[in-house]
This record gives sequence, structure tokens and C-alpha cells, in this order.
Amino acid sequence: MSDARKVPGHLAIIMDGNGRWASRLGRPRWMGHVRGAHTVKEVVSHCVRAGVQHLTLYAFSSDNWKRPREEVGFLFDLFASHLDRQVDALVRNRIRLSIFGRRDRLPAELVQAFAMAEARTAGGTRMHLRVAVDYSSRAAIEQAFAQRFTERTAAHEFGAGGPHGGEILPPVDLLLRTGGERRLSDFLLWESAYAELAFLDVNFPDLTSEHLDQVFADFASRDRRFGGIKEMQKV
Ligand code: FPP
Repeated sequence: MSDARKVPGHLAIIMDGNGRWASRLGRPRWMGHVRGAHTVKEVVSHCVRAGVQHLTLYAFSSDNWKRPREEVGFLFDLFASHLDRQVDALVRNRIRLSIFGRRDRLPAELVQAFAMAEARTAGGTRMHLRVAVDYSSRAAIEQAFAQRFTERTAAHEFGAGGPHGGEILPPVDLLLRTGGERRLSDFLLWESAYAELAFLDVNFPDLTSEHLDQVFADFASRDRRFGGIKEMQKV
């Protein structure tokens, strides 16, 4: 069991390796995604028990549109069915769910399912679960710049919140990527300015609570100075 003092306040996960998990077993890629969705449930349960306050998952990047239409459609159906089945459990466990990224290119029914799940879980205070869908960090940063510029020139039109009223994510404490690759793939680049990084050579469907506890223990042993120095080293 994790020690709540040691867990990151904001854990972000790049859930990679679903396809390879399936290929290694001689199965189609979609089976890896199904198994990955099961792992999402386990990860959420473990993080909430461990005391993580913010959990952010990379479910579909804007570059994932390059995948075959069938795989993209399968993923969207999986998100919708998973939401449908899990929303009661999220409410029961006081977990707030938010989806972020572009919505204008997603199927209307999926956007509707997101809005319904967000509304039903809005009162959750135990953990904030965010899922990135059609997300690009560079695009989000560009949009924020453009929005700020527009607000300055036409503040009367948009008001203080800006035209999209986009939520600002808290800084990432620990960014974990499964699947053996060591890259950030356009995920939370701004928010991860001082994130500790963890890479596991484990495909996402094989990620367990024990792996998470190991990653949390390693995180707890890191010396985070945020550009400063230790108190005892001051001259
Ligand atoms: C990356 O593995 C994974 C994805 C692009 C999809 C992530 C989706 C899930 C984990 C399923 C459900 C999620 C929710 C939120 C219900 P990959 O396909 O790139 O694997 P590969 O690198 O081995 O090909």
C-alpha cells in the first residue's frame, strides 16, 4: 500500500503499448485497447486509494488521427462504452471527470457522453481525473497565446475568461510513460516543466498497482529543487 505522503499530487500517464501487448500474444490491436481500458480502471482505483489528487491520462492524441479509421472508430466506441459503465462508480467514489482537447472533430454522440459524464461527476472532490482526447500540447499552447492576444485586443468581446474559458491544469509532479519509449509525444509540455519523469518497459495493459507503487517510491526519493538549492547548502 502506498504512503499518501509519498504520492505525487498530479500524476500524468502516457498509456503506451496496447498494440504491442496484443501483437505479442498474436491478437488484433483492438484487444490491446480493450485490455488497456481494464487497466485504466485499476489505475484509477489504485490512485484514488493512494491519495493522488489529480490523475491525467493521454487517451488519444491529435496525431492519432493518422491511424486507420477502424482503429480510431474502435477507440471512440470504447471510450463511450467505458464511460457509460463507469460513471456510477466515479460518482460513488467522488471522482470528478473532465475531458480535455478538441471536441469539434469527435463524433457528436461521444461529445454528448463526455458532457453527461462531466456533469454527473462535477461534485467529485476526492480526485480529479482528466482524460486527454484529440489533444496536442503544442496546439493548446498556441491556442492559449492566440486567445491572450485576442483578449487584449478585444477584451470587451470575450470578457476576462476568454472565448473558450479553458481550464488551466495544475503542474504535473510525475509523468509516467509505459511501453518502453522515452519521449513526451506532445503531452502536457507546459504543465510538465518541473515534472519528474518515469519510464516503464511494461506495456500499458500489463501495468499493475505494484508497478505504480514502485514508481511512487522512486518519486518519493527524488530531490526536487525547482531550480533552487537545499536549505542546508545556503552560504
Ligand atoms: C497507445 O498504445 C494507446 C492509445 C493510443 C489508446 C489508449 C486507450 C486506452 C488505454 C483504452 C481506453 C481508455 C480510456 C480512457 C477508457 P498504442 O496503440 O500506441 O500501442 P503500441 O505503441 O504498442 O502500438
